[in-house]
Amino acid sequence: MKNRVIAAAALSFVAIQFAWVEVGLTHGDVQPQAVDTEGLEALPEDFALENPYRLKGGEQYELAREIGASAYNSNCARCHGLEAISGGIAPDLRMLEDGEFGDEWFMERVRKGYSQNGAYKMPPFDAILSQEAMWAIRSYTETQPRPE
Ligand code: HEC
Repeated sequence: MKNRVIAAAALSFVAIQFAWVEVGLTHGDVQPQAVDTEGLEALPEDFALENPYRLKGGEQYELAREIGASAYNSNCARCHGLEAISGGIAPDLRMLEDGEFGDEWFMERVRKGYSQNGAYKMPPFDAILSQEAMWAIRSYTETQPRPE
């Protein structure tokens, strides 16, 4: 009897996991997407320490946010939530610190990803996204309104 209860519990747990995967897939493409950053000023090879488009401000920052929104939707939203509002699967990126400190942490995670017990919970994006695309995504998430 006890075993059956455990088996049933295990099965429903698996079902819940599958349900989550399905929900996740509707939130964006599964394959990482290359990002067209035309119009954004190209950056030197060395990674910037602080969001260069925020520092430039004006039209470059505006464009970075636009490109970042679409790059976010196709690469990050399935885990971090539409419009950067987390559904609980992964942290809410609106809550990252402002400025250079938040920039540094953002880049660390985006470039290297995050793995636990040998399995990637978040894939590394170093070989997938250009530095320009990464900063564009940062420009988008840092300007999404935080919850009240
Ligand atoms: C497969 C799911 C998945 C995808 C896709 C994904 N992430 Fe993550 N991300 C996670 C998880 C899980 C964590 C939590 C890891 C940890 O404990 O630090 C995380 C953590 C982060 C963090 C650190 C947040 C914090 O509060 O410390 C940043 C920044 C981040 N992700 C950015 C991104 C960006 C930008 C993208 C898209 C380019 C992205 N992630 C795509 C799952 C994902």
